[in-house]
Amino acid sequence: MVMGILIVPSCYNDNYQDLYPSAPCDTTQVTYSVDVWPVLKAQCTGCHSGDSPGGNVALENYNDVVIVAKNGKLVGSVRHNPGYSPMPKDGAKLSSCKINKIEKWVNDGTPNN
Ligand code: HEC
Repeated sequence: MVMGILIVPSCYNDNYQDLYPSAPCDTTQVTYSVDVWPVLKAQCTGCHSGDSPGGNVALENYNDVVIVAKNGKLVGSVRHNPGYSPMPKDGAKLSSCKINKIEKWVNDGTPNN
C-alpha cells in the first residue's frame, strides 16, 4: 500500500517571496498600510517603541516612520548599507522584495496610503 503525502503550506502567500526569492516582486502598487507598516510592526516595533526605543529611534506610527524614511536611515539600515546599523538587529535580513517595497515607498515620497 502506498501512503500519499500531502503537503499543504499554510501561509503560502506570506512566504512566497522568502521561499522563492527570484519570484517577481510587484513594486508597482506599494502602499504604507499594506506593504510597509505590517513589516515594521512585525519586525521592528518590538525594539523601536516604548519609553526607550532602540537607538532612540521610535517606529510606532506613521509620523515616526517618515522621520527615518526621510533621513535615509530606514532604507540604509534594512539594506545593510555601509554606515548604518543593520536592521532588524540580530535578526535575519528582510527579504529583498520587502526591502524593495519599502524603498519604493520612500522614493514615492512616503505617502500615507
Ligand atoms: C532586537 C532589537 C531591534 C530590532 C528587532 C530592530 N532594531 Fe533597529 N535598532 C536597535 C538598536 C539597539 C539600535 C541602535 C543602534 C545599534 O545598537 O545597532 C537600532 C537602530 C536603528 C536605526 C538607526 C540606524 C542608524 O544607522 O542610525 C534604524 C533606522 C532602525 N534601527 C530601524 C529598524 C527597523 C526598520 C527595524 C525592522 C526591520 C529594526 N530597526 C529592528 C534595535 C532593534
